[in-house]
Amino acid sequence: STPNAATGTSRDGFTSSFGVLAATLGSAVGLGNIWKFPYLTGTNGGASFLVVYIIATLLVGLPVMISEIMLGRKAKADAVTTFQKLAPAGQPWWLISASGVLAAFLIIAFYSEVAAWVFAYVFKAIGGAILSSDPKVTSAAFKTLISDPVQALLWQWLVLLLIGGILLLGVAKGIEAVTKKLMPLLFVLLLVVAVRSLMLPGAMKGVEFLLAPDFSRLSAGVVLTAVGLAFFKLSIGMGTMMTYGSYFRDNQNIPTTTLRVMGADLFVSMLAGLAIFPAVFAFGFAPGAGPSLLFITIPAVFASMPLGHVFMVVFFVLAAIASTGALLSLLEVPVSVMSGRLGISRKRATVINLLVLALIGSGCALSNSTLSGFTLFGKTLFDLFDFLTSNILLPLGGIFICLFVGYVWGLARLKQALSNEGALENGRLVRVLFVLVRFVSPLLILVVMLRGLGVL
Ligand code: PFF
Repeated sequence: STPNAATGTSRDGFTSSFGVLAATLGSAVGLGNIWKFPYLTGTNGGASFLVVYIIATLLVGLPVMISEIMLGRKAKADAVTTFQKLAPAGQPWWLISASGVLAAFLIIAFYSEVAAWVFAYVFKAIGGAILSSDPKVTSAAFKTLISDPVQALLWQWLVLLLIGGILLLGVAKGIEAVTKKLMPLLFVLLLVVAVRSLMLPGAMKGVEFLLAPDFSRLSAGVVLTAVGLAFFKLSIGMGTMMTYGSYFRDNQNIPTTTLRVMGADLFVSMLAGLAIFPAVFAFGFAPGAGPSLLFITIPAVFASMPLGHVFMVVFFVLAAIASTGALLSLLEVPVSVMSGRLGISRKRATVINLLVLALIGSGCALSNSTLSGFTLFGKTLFDLFDFLTSNILLPLGGIFICLFVGYVWGLARLKQALSNEGALENGRLVRVLFVLVRFVSPLLILVVMLRGLGVL
């Protein structure tokens, strides 16, 4: 841990520049890249969706992510305390982080269930149980897994225990150490699968699908989906990057790190797309299969290719790795807030959060079995939590983070904080950023959100 000059105490944090990158990228890269991105691209028009998504990451993702990391590093505290330290006395900006803690709970609740299927699939892939080129067979296998309450719950709790166990080791020895090992491995495995997929006869159709835009598919709903995906995929709008920012070293260049993380995250999403779509087209499957693409279509695709058994194991291992880094950052938000605010140990905070999550999470785990008839606003808990976080809570958080930096924090402090207290020169970038957080991003998010929800 690094000594903290401000308090004289020693605060756990990331210890190297590569560690910062691995952990932050570990948070951004996840099932959002490997599960959500491919199926959303597939169902929303391919490359035209991709273009909107990239614009959203630049106009909205970049400013919000830089802002969050900067505020976290400045305050060197959990997300709620960060706003209490930085905001003028009596102004309730900390509510942003409180809503972030709620978002973390809701996301972990459904995310840990998808991760649970992925972990289960690693073992099922090894055993060969789900390997069939007939989607009817793979579909039946998937339905058996998700509609069995015992399996759904046990795999989820296993995932939660794994994540909690790593968090107990701390920020440097847990999060940083694990992501430093796993992220490079993830890249290598993903490259292997993408190259394999691209070498299949007829693979070019899948590439075309990813790269040829069809703008006729665009609608307000599709744009909101792209913006929501940008928030979800970059882990922003809910204090996650703020929390990780508080572990950043003082000499870390925040804008550069952010650009690298965003670039690498996009690269991983594209690789995932290039691993999946060429194979899907080569074997004549439908690209727009929706959330089940990963669990029904992909096993059938792998079963159709030579050495498919091996590649399927590799693929689900890499998906499991990706979900681990993301879940670590999600759980770190409430754990750090709870131990920071209530003054209890990290260990106790982790255990309490896991217990609460096992409870909320089972609502999602059982969404496909015992609780499938239980719906709110016409959605199961699983779908509701997904929709609520990506399309409402995270964008709202993003708006208020921009407003805080644009109108409360101000240009001078923004410049000072991003220049590492004067050590770096990035005047032009800071001015662009300031215009974005003050005017462009909050307005854009608001309009997209209201139109997408059908309010405007
Ligand atoms: N960014 C992760 C992914 O793409 O899978 C999901 C996520 C992690 C969302 C952390 C939000 C968060 F705070």
